[in-house]
Amino acid sequence: MIIAIDGPAGAGKSTVARRVASELGIEYLDTGAMYRAVTFGVLSREIDPSDAESVIGVCRQLVLEISVDRVVVDGVDATSAIRGPEVTSAVSAVAATPEVRQFLVELQRAWILERGAGVVEGRDITTVVLPDADLKLFVTASPRVRAERRVAESGGDVDAVEAAIAERDRRDETRAASPLSISSEAVVIDTSEMSIDDVVADILERVQG
Ligand code: CDP
Repeated sequence: MIIAIDGPAGAGKSTVARRVASELGIEYLDTGAMYRAVTFGVLSREIDPSDAESVIGVCRQLVLEISVDRVVVDGVDATSAIRGPEVTSAVSAVAATPEVRQFLVELQRAWILERGAGVVEGRDITTVVLPDADLKLFVTASPRVRAERRVAESGGDVDAVEAAIAERDRRDETRAASPLSISSEAVVIDTSEMSIDDVVADILERVQG
């Protein structure tokens, strides 16, 4: 069983994907963590995230170790830093670089080929990475609800967080390379008024019938 999940920032994809994978006894891949890890490497080397040529160069040199609960970049544990504000505000620029995407998409496809099953979550999984997945989902929620979830998780001012999320959505939706979009084959789940448990149950129902 291969499950592909896309959706915007703060929709609850990661939590849901992790839980669904664990219920099904299969592994889970957070592709956002891969874009964040490359961004961490770019910022560590003091490269401008919008300087595509330098970003591509760094991407090829990086040694990435990405597992469910740890991200190591060039031997440095970046598990917390990849969720920090510096990486969060630079990641969309790095993710807009087509060569970075090609490089990571290859790793993502190799991951699923090796396992033959898994839950893979990101922005272009249903459209580009795994368009033949058994189940394709687009998990979303209103911008306000997404901002409230982020604030509950890691604090901050809800209006400022909502503005930052809206800006990242805009960049992810309007970039030329694999923009965030809803595949015509994806089932859309609006989680604005659903709990995590509701969403997990809904997905398991679709898998198990
Ligand atoms: O967890 P959150 O929703 O904040 O974002 P994430 O899944 O960690 O992804 C961070 C950023 O990586 C996104 O805003 C996209 O710019 C980029 N990304 C992407 O372009 N393609 C993916 N498959 C996954 C993430």
